[in-house]
Amino acid sequence: MLIFAKIKDLEAFLLEQKAKARTIGFVPTMGALHQGHLSLIESAKKACDICVCSIFVNPNQFNDKEDLKKYPRTPEADIALLEGAQCDVLFMPSVDEVYPEAIHTKYNFGYLDSILEGAHRPGHFNGVAQVVRRLFEIVQPHKAFFGSKDYQQVMVVKSLVQQLQMPINIVACPILREPDGVAMSSRNTLLSPNERKLAGHIPVWMKHAAAMIRSGKSIAQTKQYINAEVIKHKDMNLDYFEICNANDLKILDDSSPCHSRIALIALFVGKIRLIDNINIDEFESPQLN
Ligand code: PAF
Repeated sequence: MLIFAKIKDLEAFLLEQKAKARTIGFVPTMGALHQGHLSLIESAKKACDICVCSIFVNPNQFNDKEDLKKYPRTPEADIALLEGAQCDVLFMPSVDEVYPEAIHTKYNFGYLDSILEGAHRPGHFNGVAQVVRRLFEIVQPHKAFFGSKDYQQVMVVKSLVQQLQMPINIVACPILREPDGVAMSSRNTLLSPNERKLAGHIPVWMKHAAAMIRSGKSIAQTKQYINAEVIKHKDMNLDYFEICNANDLKILDDSSPCHSRIALIALFVGKIRLIDNINIDEFESPQLN
């Protein structure tokens, strides 16, 4: 695997590859890699000739500076995992390389930025858009691969490439889960053993909530169920739980008919904020791919 820290070196390599008509698949990450990331690498390798992964902990997308400080960083282990996954290229730039000067661009994602993660993490998606645009301009991939745990992020990135008319196909890949159902996330490594055990409730509650909705229970009853479960645990705090239209993330109430529903949750386990989602109507995420 080739490792580049400088944009000009990566660009020179990619230029050669594109001259040979090779297609580029891109997996942007913030490191602390796990099997979920490796499944994105696998998808990129299957779909494209060259797989480029980036590891860059983007300061601009952390609305909470403490969160940025404690974000896990495991570069040696990441490199070993990417080698094992036969990733072709790793781009690991410094903050100065990515942002030689401060970026102040403000993006408008409208409704999408006003709900769920957008509402609870002000400025987060603007920071994501700044770095994703920068990385897309450097790598100029044919396809870019994202995990569906960050469901709203995938929609934001799709909106970004549409707004900027970038010819990049955004591919959403399924959530990978631990044996107890917990969605794989770099943040899971920050949980204490007891918190990690508590996190195991999340997929159970989400499946139960989805079954409640499918069986005709009201959204209000389902929200009550989630609230009641979370407050049983003093180390867990609910940020939000919503049932949305999976196509546009419009928040649903019982009067809104919809046949492709998704439940999304964000909650704190101790000080660690986790997110998860579940497709209620068992569709195959057609709107994301
Ligand atoms: O999902 C992530 O890891 C990050 O938000 C991303 C897309 C790499 C941008 O920093």
